[in-house]
Amino acid sequence: MAQAGTLELQHLSKSYAVKDGDLAVLQDVTLTITPGEFVSIVGASGCGKSTLLRLIVGLEEDYQGQVLLDGERIVGTSLQRGIVFQEHRLFPWLTVAGNIALGLLNADLTPGQKRQAVREHIALVGLEGFEKSYPHQLSGGMAQRVAIARALVSKPEILLLDEPFGALDALTRAYLQQELHRIWQAEGITMILVTHDVEEAIYLGDKVVVMEPRPGRIRRIVPVDLSHPRERTAGNFTDIKQQVLQEFSADSASLAEPPLRPEVMQARPVQQWQFAI
Ligand SMILES: Nc1ncnc2c1ncn2[C@@H]1O[C@H](COP(=O)(O)OP(=O)(O)OP(=O)(O)O)[C@@H](O)[C@H]1O
Ligand SMILES: [Mg+2]
Repeated sequence: MAQAGTLELQHLSKSYAVKDGDLAVLQDVTLTITPGEFVSIVGASGCGKSTLLRLIVGLEEDYQGQVLLDGERIVGTSLQRGIVFQEHRLFPWLTVAGNIALGLLNADLTPGQKRQAVREHIALVGLEGFEKSYPHQLSGGMAQRVAIARALVSKPEILLLDEPFGALDALTRAYLQQELHRIWQAEGITMILVTHDVEEAIYLGDKVVVMEPRPGRIRRIVPVDLSHPRERTAGNFTDIKQQVLQEFSADSASLAEPPLRPEVMQARPVQQWQFAI
């Protein structure tokens, strides 16, 4: 019997029906993530990282294999699993507090308990004093912190992050990486981070899952056996970075493949993602 909160991906395969047949996106992905673990996922663009998060969050049901949480198959979305995207996806007409409260829309709490949870999560992400601000009054980093608070306010067991800092400048990004680490330690929940930044993956992860494309598979899992806080210039850090990068260089042939046809890209259900929180 798996430990409570264990996430098991068992032989996951996923394909999309496209004009010329089936596009295999994930193939035989098997991975066990223990409660409270921080797992980073890296891989070439198009190798199925976001698709994998969609399966875990419960947005896709048409796939082969199993996604099990506590031994139970995941069916549909749930407050147990929060997600943060590269774009903050805040509602411009709601304040910071209003946006965070949206994460509690379906929670079984009294209005007073909801207000308290929102207050606590504003403090958790360091945004006291900005409760009444609107998204256009925030910096990109602050908006992303609101998105993280919104995903955490319902106390999920698992937080999925799909390139959350991808659109931020290098300094803000480094600061938010430290912040995310602090939040992960404070909350003690499982986090799964998809990133294109190998340093970010190693800085935060207990392990780095390197995926390979067409179809997306796990190429290698690199353990990051380093204590925190991690020093990016330390020899053992750069050794791990080298190991991860080596896996990428083996992919250079597939990276050179031409991009997919526009009609395939257009088939992506953007709207469904926007209301996934
Ligand atoms: N709804 C869909 N219909 C058809 N093809 C899709 C759909 N969603 C994704 N794909 C295709 O699946 C493949 C994997 O997409 P996915 O978004 O998971 O990749 P990714 O690894 O997250 O890429 P990136 O790093 O660029 O974000 C791509 O080839 C993409 O075009
Ligand atoms: Mg993606």
